[in-house]
Amino acid sequence: MDLFGNTDIEDARLRVSELTALINRYNHEYYMNDRSLVSDYEFDALLRELTELERQYPELKKANSPTQRVGGEVNKTFRQVDHRVPMLSLGNTYSIGEIVDFEARTRKLIGDEQFDYTCELKYDGLAIGLTYKDGMLTQAVTRGNGTVGDDITANARTIATVPLQLQPPFPADFEVRGEVVYPFEAFEEMNRQREIDGDEPFANPRNAASGSLKLQDSRECAKRKLQFCAYFVMGDNLDAPIMQTHFGRLQAAKQMGFKIQPYIKVCRDINEIKAFIDYWDTERWNLPFGIDGIVIKVNQVSLWGKMGLTAKSPRWAIAYKFKAARVSTPLLGVSYQVGRTGVVTPVAKMQPVQLGGTTVQRATLNNADFMASLDIHEGDWLLVEKGGEIIPKIVGIDPEHRTADNQRVHFAEVCPECGTKLVRETGEAGYYCPNQDGCPPQIVGRLEHFVSRKAMRIDNLGSERLRMLYNSGLVRNIADLYDLKKEQLVGLASDEQGASIQSKGADNILQAIEQSKQTPFERVLFALGIRFVGEVGAKKLARYLGDIDTLMNASESELAQIDDVGEKTAAEIFNYFQKPEHRTTVERLRAAGLQMKNTATKVSNTLDGKVFVVSGVFSRFSREEIKNHIEQHGGKVSSSLSTKTSYLLAGERMGPEKLKKAEKLGIPVITEDEYLKQVDS
Ligand code: IVH
Repeated sequence: MDLFGNTDIEDARLRVSELTALINRYNHEYYMNDRSLVSDYEFDALLRELTELERQYPELKKANSPTQRVGGEVNKTFRQVDHRVPMLSLGNTYSIGEIVDFEARTRKLIGDEQFDYTCELKYDGLAIGLTYKDGMLTQAVTRGNGTVGDDITANARTIATVPLQLQPPFPADFEVRGEVVYPFEAFEEMNRQREIDGDEPFANPRNAASGSLKLQDSRECAKRKLQFCAYFVMGDNLDAPIMQTHFGRLQAAKQMGFKIQPYIKVCRDINEIKAFIDYWDTERWNLPFGIDGIVIKVNQVSLWGKMGLTAKSPRWAIAYKFKAARVSTPLLGVSYQVGRTGVVTPVAKMQPVQLGGTTVQRATLNNADFMASLDIHEGDWLLVEKGGEIIPKIVGIDPEHRTADNQRVHFAEVCPECGTKLVRETGEAGYYCPNQDGCPPQIVGRLEHFVSRKAMRIDNLGSERLRMLYNSGLVRNIADLYDLKKEQLVGLASDEQGASIQSKGADNILQAIEQSKQTPFERVLFALGIRFVGEVGAKKLARYLGDIDTLMNASESELAQIDDVGEKTAAEIFNYFQKPEHRTTVERLRAAGLQMKNTATKVSNTLDGKVFVVSGVFSRFSREEIKNHIEQHGGKVSSSLSTKTSYLLAGERMGPEKLKKAEKLGIPVITEDEYLKQVDS
């Protein structure tokens, strides 16, 4: 660095390429995989450092630098739509000083004209634009990269707060933009259910909102209880007087039927803006959904055009972002939780401390790798943060309280529940208890999974009752459920609540258990809870192999050849059925009358012996539907092209790589129409 704080150009070049790679990677994970590898704060710091270096050394600035992009990459699963007007982002800052500067700059730029500001919440979700023609919702598009987004109209229609038909008066053709958020309560409820169903829980409400809008099946999206928070109304002929201010536009939208959050305020000067920010910095924890800051906009629409834009954001608005709330508190001890699959999660018990509106005394230490990276010692003070996600996160050790001679905390060696020695697979971040069939939380967890909605759907048996059945010794294995008798159930009480099962309740339970015997084979297979066999995998196995006996007797390599079943899953299934107790369970379930055969009707044998690889997007079928169609007509579906492939069934937007490979292997490529002709013949 020289006297003026400038970095040497060679150092700068290195740092620029380092920052570019990091930011690109974080952007990719964030936009394409809905995974946030760093906090917003850290991400923004990196982007700022890069912007600053590019300012100092313009020769290092590349056209494709992440500072030149409005957003992320484009997701290809949905139809791509151009935004009529780009969806810009906002300049943002964590510093009140910069808000003061923004306000002063704005006043100077506007000069003598009368104006004021609006302050509103910065919703932490996913931006979408809704187009209305003659009062009808015609299109909903995600922000995408700011220029092109995904057409998610079908999913947006399922959101209760998105009006489908507006109340007059409304402009003939206009757009309402806003954020889709996942309210905390609904988010937590959904994640609890996902864990029971064996699905990976979402990391935070924003990821969940984004994942929901990109669901292929809008019926699934409808179950998600998303909310739309409108923050922008735009169009060419918005001449009505109410449309001349941003505040007025939102009120107009409210009259048209949009749910407008009441937390918007017209502010006349910097003091009122600061007061609004201060209020929400603490009050934000009491909202039912997440926000990550405050947005300040010039209220008078006529001034927007005059003030103009910078490269990627308007000059008439700015976002103030809240820093995550952070405290330091002494570690009291580490306990270990055992999940359904035996994974052991370390949990830090801490001196209770106030953080972002609630008392925090426990937080996850994730796994052995995370504990090692913290280098956690007895007597340490932990740094705990709460960002928009509500769940407190341990982010480090407070260096001020580190005492040299304290003992390092080592991960538990045996299962806290059953005493079995814990094991760690190579390449895994943490330990698990291998005592699948003898470790109480694993057994109860498997029972919960077995009765859950996506599996056997035995209503009336919640976690509490299952634990009760387990503790009483009546149910130790999923097959025991089918041996239950009314007299065993009546009068049974849980230790904690004391609520006991009455005669009517017992009848209901037994009836639900009886009904579950009709559950299709693919769901029975999923219900068994074999590691790595999810809902989709179970469906594939059931359709491909047809019945439980074929599955139990399949070799590892036969299993691995099935579409979407990898080697790891194949090994897991194979090992599962090597255990005599698992075979006994299956036999008991079979004897009880559960479905052990795929009854999905086979429509014809036209495609017998043919193997298809399916790629691209189809007009008459979804990808899943066309695969089912092939199977119903006797064909097989494989995920990758090989010499065994009979046809490459090509939809629109198929990748060029696949086509090249098919040509090289001499595999005929057929269209959807050609395929249908073949099936009909
Ligand atoms: S106004 C031209 N208002 O924050 C004005 N944006 O970088 C465009 N956001 O992705 C945005 N709450 O989705 C505005 N009350 C609010 C907002 C808001 C959240 C999001 C927006 C965008 C990002 C801005």
